[in-house]
Amino acid sequence: MFQTPLSRLLGIRYPIIQGALGGSTRPVSDATLVSSVSNSGGLGILSTWNQSDSKTLKEIEKARALTNKPFGVNVAATHSSYDFSRKAKLLADAGVGIVTTGRGDPNIPAIEILKDHGIKVMPVIGSVRHAVNVEKKGADAVVASGCEAGGHVGTITTLTLVPQVIDAVNIPVVAAGGIGDARGFVAALAMGACGVQMGTRFVVTQESLLPLKLKQKVLRAWAEDAVVTTMRTGWPTRALKTRIIEEWDKLNTGDVSSGELRDYRRMASKRMRENIDEDSIGMGQVCGMLSSLKSVKDVINEIIRDACRIISGLEELKLNQQS
Ligand SMILES: Cc1cc2nc3c(=O)[nH]c(=O)nc-3n(C[C@H](O)[C@H](O)[C@H](O)COP(=O)(O)O)c2cc1C
Repeated sequence: MFQTPLSRLLGIRYPIIQGALGGSTRPVSDATLVSSVSNSGGLGILSTWNQSDSKTLKEIEKARALTNKPFGVNVAATHSSYDFSRKAKLLADAGVGIVTTGRGDPNIPAIEILKDHGIKVMPVIGSVRHAVNVEKKGADAVVASGCEAGGHVGTITTLTLVPQVIDAVNIPVVAAGGIGDARGFVAALAMGACGVQMGTRFVVTQESLLPLKLKQKVLRAWAEDAVVTTMRTGWPTRALKTRIIEEWDKLNTGDVSSGELRDYRRMASKRMRENIDEDSIGMGQVCGMLSSLKSVKDVINEIIRDACRIISGLEELKLNQQS
């Protein structure tokens, strides 16, 4: 059911990917979440953001002990100083077969290096130009992520980005950004995507590492509480609006030196780490439709079950119009 070129490429049951969930101040995901997604028929992706190589290797080992299904690893492609050759070798030696690259500088030779190690690569991109660029470099599939998404974002919405990317490339396209249930899943397939990647929905699962207090904040949040800020990483990131983010945005628009901004960010990170009430979390606009903490298995099973119901409903609509 729902077999697509993407599920065949990755060897998974359902074309549902759990996007990498890195944590700036508190960990969000680990091998337990990732393996739960893979065991439920999707593809779990381990995050490596802010992580030492030894921790990454430990998580890969742990995930492998928890599932015999495929899972992937995410690497950031944002730093030009990043040593991809070393990272790619590390992942290849650890037997990793699938890598997603986070939104970043498309000029970094990450894809070629990972491909040279026999790894399937799925870059996350936010524009048609980037999609065409990564296809030329040998990407196996591309994750087109709209600006509704949690984490790093571009400026184009999912509904407009995905069909344009599909028209521009010949590799499988995965839709990301703003997808949280079967309605988004079916809509993505209807646009011609071969699958979906979800982040925020998996943040608020029982298996995610985020403290309950922050999960509850995400579940209570309105879509407009998911704001874009450069506070967290220096790049535009969609996250839960907090007092610190509002302070940063005010400071950032004023006449302020880069040194002052750096000092503020350092101080803010400390405040967020030390006081959970001050912390923010990467969060997409889909937060507004999430109201309960579910297990990963329930999230995926409900999407597949409800998707079948929605598609039958659409069929009925067609029959009604013919009669
Ligand atoms: C808390 C959080 C952390 C994230 N960390 C990463 C990351 O480390 N690397 C990455 O490529 N994407 C990261 N993302 C993006 C997700 O993998 C995914 O593409 C995005 O959340 C999809 O949009 P959605 O939140 O609307 O489902 C993160 C998203 C969130 C919400």
